[in-house]
Amino acid sequence: MTRRTFVIAIDGPAASGKSSTAQMVAEKLGYLHVDSGSLYRAATAATLRDQSDPSKWTEQAVLDAARPVELRAARTSFYPLLEGRAIEDEIRGGEVTDNVSRVAQMPRVREWVNQKVRDAAKSRNVVVDGRDMGTMVFPDADLKIFLVADSRERAARRLRQRGTPASQQMLDDETMRITGRDARDAGQTVPAADSVMIDTTGLTQQEQVEQIVTLSKQRSG
Ligand code: C5P
Repeated sequence: MTRRTFVIAIDGPAASGKSSTAQMVAEKLGYLHVDSGSLYRAATAATLRDQSDPSKWTEQAVLDAARPVELRAARTSFYPLLEGRAIEDEIRGGEVTDNVSRVAQMPRVREWVNQKVRDAAKSRNVVVDGRDMGTMVFPDADLKIFLVADSRERAARRLRQRGTPASQQMLDDETMRITGRDARDAGQTVPAADSVMIDTTGLTQQEQVEQIVTLSKQRSG
């Protein structure tokens, strides 16, 4: 069946500002935001609850642990619930962040996430963000954006988000964590041939959002 909803796919590497930008674009257009990374994170958090040693995780164990995860629609976004409860703090923690790329390499886990994201877009106009939204999940998306930014700038933004004053050492450490995750996620972080590349290094959040909203209005006629 042909999809009748409007889909904006925003991809890019870790901490490139995808999720906050996608959320703001969704709010401006009256669409719902779907953060596909939050599902990989929810599957990771659920598995950590069952087995604290990630070296023992099998694909089947991750799928079993992730079964009670659902994607719930709120006013401006979909968000994951685990056994009926919101798990935002848990999925943003360091242990989940350190182990999520391992879970994201599992093909059946990727199918599980992709299905949930596609289901969300069946009845609503959405802004989806992730790594492979414009390539694998919505190759027919109405607008595809690929955000890039210098790794040190991404690290600085992450630290600013946390609101703690950052030393040079903290900035070095965060840059290393981000480039490490870039390397682990490189296989699935490939821009679609028909995506619009936006380098956000020198842009404000507002400017990025405006560019995407303008492109989207052009595409929707
Ligand atoms: O976007 P975020 O950094 O929260 O995503 C967490 C992790 O989920 C990424 O590091 C990556 O391993 C995985 N991911 C993915 N494909 C997506 C979205 C996220 O592999 N579409």
